Amino acid sequence: MHPKTGIFHCLQSQQFDRELLDHLCVLADKIRDIARSKKGMEYLMSLLNHKRAMLYFVQPSTRTFLSFYSACQILGIQCAEVRDTRTSSEVKGESEEDTVRTFSSYYDFIIMRHPKANFAQRIAQLLDDSERNVPIINAGSGKDQHPTQALLDIYTLQRSFPYRGSIDGLKIAFVGDLVRGRTCRSLAALLSKFDGVKQYFVAPEECQMGSDILEILDRAGSSYEMVEDFTSVIPEVDAIYMTRLQDEWDKEDGISRPIDISKYSFNPEHLSLLKPDAILMHPLPRRKEIHPDVDRDPRAAYWRQVRNGMWARAALIAAIFGTDRNIDDYYTCNY
Ligand code: NCD
Repeated sequence: MHPKTGIFHCLQSQQFDRELLDHLCVLADKIRDIARSKKGMEYLMSLLNHKRAMLYFVQPSTRTFLSFYSACQILGIQCAEVRDTRTSSEVKGESEEDTVRTFSSYYDFIIMRHPKANFAQRIAQLLDDSERNVPIINAGSGKDQHPTQALLDIYTLQRSFPYRGSIDGLKIAFVGDLVRGRTCRSLAALLSKFDGVKQYFVAPEECQMGSDILEILDRAGSSYEMVEDFTSVIPEVDAIYMTRLQDEWDKEDGISRPIDISKYSFNPEHLSLLKPDAILMHPLPRRKEIHPDVDRDPRAAYWRQVRNGMWARAALIAAIFGTDRNIDDYYTCNY
């Protein structure tokens, strides 16, 4: 465990406190500054070149996988991957638990994306009780949590409103499939740690935010409103977080007819309703929730979000292994 930040496993967004979030955002900024020069990049790549990572991604992924892979490369970490259980001993009947224990025997930490909610938590507990405990990073668990996406979303928000000094007091709308969107769930829970934030949940009734997340907000005294009409919310907010329909879960959820979320799309004509300094976010992949013509508007933040993810994840990994202090020292001496 990191002696100062206390971070070892990264399992759910609620585990981040304000101090750690601020620390990781500043660290991510320092890493990206240092990485601009060859000398700086060589320094970063020397920090953790004695560590090896297993990327266990048994659910589809483009961004999160590559973002973690790149974050590891920045810190000099060597990576191995399992992306398909058909190529592992799970086909011989080995349990997922034994598979992950095997990874922990060879690697120094495991980054995992898995279709089951709570899988990362379960594995972390298993390893906590084993002879070789290594950090687990949850890169998306079922419909439940995506803590590192929430981290990069917070980092994106922090960078987008530098003149405000923090995210406190922002109004943020979540739009789309909120009940099954793990990115929205993780970010909504995390935003409850900021003061004066108001969240708008904009979705058809069957896609509205889950009661477990609303309870977290209620307990924190964090303000929110459920809304059906998307257009009315656009001029009110500082950030809009669009999401796609998570219909890969339809079969499991017993949904036989497609849910229509076409009303919950951001089109070029909506740009004139958006505040001049607001931002438009999306965890991606997108379908039709944001028209590609919107991409040219400076308020479209989703491609910046993708790049921010790499730096935020590099910061998280550096903090888990305690090399954040080295980065701080290097930065102080050279910048
Ligand atoms: C999201 C995910 O996998 O939950 N993608 C991502 O990690 N950026 C969102 C999605 O698939 O809709």
